[in-house]
Amino acid sequence: MSARNAFIASLAQEPFAQFRQEQLAAFGPDLDDISLHWLERAMIPLWGRRCLSLLPAAEAQAVDGARLMIARGVLSRLNEKRDFVIEALEPLGDPARSAEEKAGLADTLMVASAYMPLLFHAVHRDYERPYGLDLIGSHAPGGPGARLAQAAGGNPYEPCPPDLLRDGLNRLPLEPQQTRFVDLGCGKGLGLLVAAERPFAQMVGIELEPTLAQIARENLARYPQEKRACGDIAIVEGDALSAPWPEGDVVVYLFNTLTEPLMPLLRERLERIAQAGHRAWVVYIEPLHLSALEASPAARLLHKQINMALLAFSPSGERLH
Ligand SMILES: C[S@@+](CC[C@H](N)C(=O)[O-])C[C@H]1O[C@@H](n2cnc3c(N)ncnc32)[C@H](O)[C@@H]1O
Repeated sequence: MSARNAFIASLAQEPFAQFRQEQLAAFGPDLDDISLHWLERAMIPLWGRRCLSLLPAAEAQAVDGARLMIARGVLSRLNEKRDFVIEALEPLGDPARSAEEKAGLADTLMVASAYMPLLFHAVHRDYERPYGLDLIGSHAPGGPGARLAQAAGGNPYEPCPPDLLRDGLNRLPLEPQQTRFVDLGCGKGLGLLVAAERPFAQMVGIELEPTLAQIARENLARYPQEKRACGDIAIVEGDALSAPWPEGDVVVYLFNTLTEPLMPLLRERLERIAQAGHRAWVVYIEPLHLSALEASPAARLLHKQINMALLAFSPSGERLH
């Protein structure tokens, strides 16, 4: 058994068995794929910082102590295994990595392992279970439901952290009734469901993967009308950078959708909205390529934290709050 597989197998042993059982009960047979997917993703050093930054938000949203205890329990158990984690990472990474980098990767893995079940648990508890939706699932890189997006320079599906999107929208000084909303790469539609708590004039989710777009439509059909303040929500199958966006002032939401080479295209599109005399508010979760947007003369940075940034692209000369 490879070191990586041994490590993954060890997660199924005590003291993780009970936790894993809870996960399995909550997430069903996809769990192993999901874990593997996130373990792979955890190899990216940035992922660690991202998870670290997300964890307090997850804690803040934990209304029941149980979830917090699970997170802390997993973290402390994993801390005991730190040396083993570092060793297990050895064959996966660049052998020339410094000891410091390896330790960083191990921290990353530990936090990711604790954070993702928390997020999935919350999404399952608050959206999937009560309304019979499909939001978690498994769409590992290179697999079905991810190939088209990756071929187009995008990232595979993952559900958004709902509280982070809510927080971003709450910080924007806009009138939802006069504003449209577009989710660039809407996946299974969770971002749309969260944003639909506000009475936007119109909402559009654009998704390149047909299977995901179809699931988003089904989720939308199942999600109760009384939970939405916006009555005009559409899912469009297509490329987020070339498909039409709603006209007028618009919130442009993206969560880990585009890789860096595509960001200048997004910037041009946002600048065209400003040139046409409208405003585009950008909610950018995991703003890894923020500098590509910030560099625009039409852009103003309204808010920045490690896992979220808010920008406004507006007609020249307009004063922003
Ligand atoms: C990280 S997920 C975000 C999901 C969703 N926005 C949410 O908040 O839950 C990124 C999504 O973007 C899609 N995607 C990637 N590149 C795209 C593109 N060029 N056009 C449309 N969708 C794209 C992927 O298929 C994936 O579903």
